[in-house]
Amino acid sequence: MPMDLSPIDKAKFVAAKRAVDYVEDGMRVGLGTGSTAAWMVRCLGEIIREEGLNITGVPTSSRTADLARNVGINVISLDEAKWLDLTIDGADEFDADLNLIKGGGGALLQEKIVATASDRMIVIADVAKEVAALGAFPLPVEVIPFGWQTSKALIEETLVNMDVLGQNTTLRMNGDTPFVTDEGNYILDLHLRRISNARQLSLVMNQVPGVVENGLFLDICDVVVIGGGDGTVEVR
Ligand code: 5RP
Repeated sequence: MPMDLSPIDKAKFVAAKRAVDYVEDGMRVGLGTGSTAAWMVRCLGEIIREEGLNITGVPTSSRTADLARNVGINVISLDEAKWLDLTIDGADEFDADLNLIKGGGGALLQEKIVATASDRMIVIADVAKEVAALGAFPLPVEVIPFGWQTSKALIEETLVNMDVLGQNTTLRMNGDTPFVTDEGNYILDLHLRRISNARQLSLVMNQVPGVVENGLFLDICDVVVIGGGDGTVEVR
């Protein structure tokens, strides 16, 4: 384990390291995005170097692609891979049914496509990501830049019609300008506090004109590897 890690980084590291145990020689692996996924990519690079494994990675962002190449992982696109054995990714929240909110790092679109194209999705998370109900973390919704304010107004109107009260929606910023995803889109963060019907919300959000995808990952994750600040790991 790297020296001098904060408890949160230690939790992310131990979860990432354990998840890499699921990777076998010859696998095509989806590589998630975020600080926890970055630990996993480094750990994967290490076992490829040390054990000489033949692993191909499909990254879910340009950031992850750069890191993966730097640590010696053979990187291909999803269209080249077509189907993946496994995806390992982080999450912003997970609940008891292993449903997730993702997209805090702005890569939810590629992450959802890659995870859906995998036989198995393993989420790596520190204990703080576990919630009784999804929604305390703002739900990211990716929208195309054209008419994004109209999409935002339609989302807000839809939430009111669904009786989701006390909500507000913010455009994610990067300093003074909108945050732009790898696909050139914007992210709207929906501050909902608690999501009572995730399935309905996900369907309805994706019907709003201009919405590309939302950060609810329902029935996609198979296993969660949870790291603790004391270095313990729990697999669910
Ligand atoms: C990126 C994501 C990340 O997996 C999520 O934001 C968790 O990030 P971190 O591991 O840095 O806490 O969904 O779009």
